[in-house]
Amino acid sequence: MKDGYWLMGFQYEFTGSLYSLGQIPKCKVAMLDSLKSEDKLLIAGVGHGVEAVEAARRGVNVTAVDISKTMLKYMQKKIDRSGLNKPIQMINNDILEVKYGQEFDMVIANYFLNVFPREKMLKILTHLTTFVKPGGYMVIGDFVLPKEGGALYKSFQNAYWYIAATLYCLTADNAVHPIYDYPELLKSLNFDIDEIKRFKMLGMDCHWSIRGKKRSA
Ligand SMILES: C[S@@+](CC[C@H](N)C(=O)[O-])C[C@H]1O[C@@H](n2cnc3c(N)ncnc32)[C@H](O)[C@@H]1O
Repeated sequence: MKDGYWLMGFQYEFTGSLYSLGQIPKCKVAMLDSLKSEDKLLIAGVGHGVEAVEAARRGVNVTAVDISKTMLKYMQKKIDRSGLNKPIQMINNDILEVKYGQEFDMVIANYFLNVFPREKMLKILTHLTTFVKPGGYMVIGDFVLPKEGGALYKSFQNAYWYIAATLYCLTADNAVHPIYDYPELLKSLNFDIDEIKRFKMLGMDCHWSIRGKKRSA
């Protein structure tokens, strides 16, 4: 299995926090309030797992999947430091090889779908949505789609994304592409947009967490 983060994995969380002036860590945990103790949460492409540890600390049953051994090694270090006494199920695999029924109260994809070219992203997002219970949530945290404001504002939002995407294209072989419109994609996959939380940097919307609620039929 390909471990694109073997070289840069160690700095991933620190750099993300610095690059967003602390907004990315807030974005990653933004929707955990809609979970109750003993709910089931799946986190795809979990990385260092800040939201995994926080959810488990709140009594949620967490399953975390990542293709990178390096990222899971750093997640394990975070778990060890946290003194957590609720276990987290960690799966080192390609998410497309992971199979579940409609059994999760929430599935989270934080800064995960953006690493793929559009066609593969659609395949993975569709796959993830099949794990969500009817009435459950699909949560996506990522860079904001530049839609509102003037041309300069949108150029800043685009540049902010493309700088990060280029860095991880060079170091982890991630895709570089225009920012995806996750709310529209979720709607097309049988979800209603339940809530969107936005995270500002220097007064500008740069990150968002989108919560879609799965329709019953
Ligand atoms: C950009 S990082 C985001 C990490 C984390 N979600 C965060 O917000 O910090 C993308 C993560 O997805 C993982 N990943 C990439 N392709 C994957 C796949 N096919 N299946 C599972 N994990 C994958 C990478 O190893 C990496 O940890």
